[in-house]
Amino acid sequence: GSDFSLTGRSAKKVVVVGGGPAGLTTAYELQKAGYRVTVLEARHRVGGRTLTIRGGDTETDTDGVTQKARFADGVYLNAGAGRIAQWMVTMDYLRELGVPYEMFTNANADAYLYNERTGATPGNPVRYRTAKADVFGYTSELLHLATDQGALDQRLTEADKENLRSFLRSWGSLRSDGTYAGGSNRGYAVYPSAWNEHGTPLPGPGSVSEVLASRVGQYFPFEINWEQSMLMFQPKGGMDTTYQYMVRAIGAHNVHLDSPVTGVRTTDRGVTVTYTQHRKQRQLTADFAVVTAPAGLMRGWDTTWGPQVDAALGEFAVGSPAGKIGLQYRSRFWEDDHRIFGGITETDMDLAHIWYPSSGYGERKGLVVGYYNTGTNARTYADLSPREREARAVAQGVKIHGEKYRTELESSFSVAWHKVPYIEGAWAYPDTSSAGFRLLQQGAGNVYFAGDWMSEVSAWQHGALWSARYAVQALHQRVMAS
Ligand code: FAD
Ligand code: PHE
Repeated sequence: GSDFSLTGRSAKKVVVVGGGPAGLTTAYELQKAGYRVTVLEARHRVGGRTLTIRGGDTETDTDGVTQKARFADGVYLNAGAGRIAQWMVTMDYLRELGVPYEMFTNANADAYLYNERTGATPGNPVRYRTAKADVFGYTSELLHLATDQGALDQRLTEADKENLRSFLRSWGSLRSDGTYAGGSNRGYAVYPSAWNEHGTPLPGPGSVSEVLASRVGQYFPFEINWEQSMLMFQPKGGMDTTYQYMVRAIGAHNVHLDSPVTGVRTTDRGVTVTYTQHRKQRQLTADFAVVTAPAGLMRGWDTTWGPQVDAALGEFAVGSPAGKIGLQYRSRFWEDDHRIFGGITETDMDLAHIWYPSSGYGERKGLVVGYYNTGTNARTYADLSPREREARAVAQGVKIHGEKYRTELESSFSVAWHKVPYIEGAWAYPDTSSAGFRLLQQGAGNVYFAGDWMSEVSAWQHGALWSARYAVQALHQRVMAS
């Protein structure tokens, strides 16, 4: 069910392990219901995978490599979470907490597609609008032809066929005979203006074979994806802003940083949580614990929850790699020269995606996400030094944006998620129908689990926040029933 309400108040004490979205939401909701909460966060900052890098920020990875961000005021990189769909519960928290937010541009007709493996050459990226006109045009032409040749007579009546052809003629910008020959939806080399400037067409379209072979159509499903379709949103100033507001609501004195947990034991009276602070081992006792650390990282902990729970946690142990680099530029040439004001360029290079900023218009500087990749591509970059990552990302981006992509660069910062201490992966997709998953939903003694890996929507804050709400609800129902 999607109902979420806590009735009755409780003064019981809860220790929350992890100060990411799931942990902070757990603490925030419990505190609203009267509970006393303490959050133990292993890292030097809250937010977990909603990591926003700003000027002066320092991160050291599990190899001991340290980077310090040299970003200008107001310039930031969302190294983890970057976008929120309107239906996600994440939006409700922005609104409840009063976090300022703005649109995140997840699709832009003027962003580029660049498939060098299928023949794109440096300096010749294709714009989404052009690629769509050609792919929609030719596929419409082919379907139009199929109806004319009787191929669909088993499925369609005469009226159906005429309705379909009429749709295809407009969807595919077909001529009245049902053929595609380009047109204004492809965009222009010079756009129409006045006094007989009718517009200078772009070269093309290529043949149907060429358009199919270019494989640009593979990128189109993204923008109708249930999680990714516009409109999407972001907190102003960085994704972790939400969690800074949450800490303020919870009370900063209730959130302990640099406090990695190493043990969670159930006792007669509740739980004992062991953690390290200033190199000293410390313990907290409480009525309950809610654990939101990545499942795979609990392996060495001192626990009482037993081998079955350990095995279930093991099912969610493997976090996949992902990486991002933020490139700060001294000018916003993607806006000035390319007329791209946000959105995403897609490529078949190992950088995968390039994100243009959805804010800061009219300012001098700006930050482009020079790669956002996963799997093997993410490992390729993760294995390089920060300087080498930058060089590789820039060399590829130059093919799309020209030399300014190199010459205007001021600084960069990159994150390889499987090398971030206490996180060690981008996300894990649980098998939510497994017996282990059901076991973890029950909790273990006075311990509950939450985190995006405990949800139906892993890899999104929405899943983490809902997992927190379900854990809180289960805990609270138990307290109210006792
Ligand atoms: P985490 O954010 O991982 O938080 C867990 C916390 O537990 C961390 O702070 C960690 O340091 C702490 N911890 C670990 N071990 C211990 C310990 N022993 N003791 C104490 N604390 C410990 N979501 C979106 O909504 N939109 C997006 O666009 C999006 N894009 C993403 C892109 C990338 C590259 C990544 C990596 C994630 C993205 N996500 C996105 C997912 C989103 O960031 C996560 O779903 C969310 O952060 C999960 O919250 P969590 O609290 O479950 O886990
Ligand atoms: N939520 C992450 C993002 O939007 C990861 C993800 C990518 C999840 C694509 C689903 C689809 O970048």
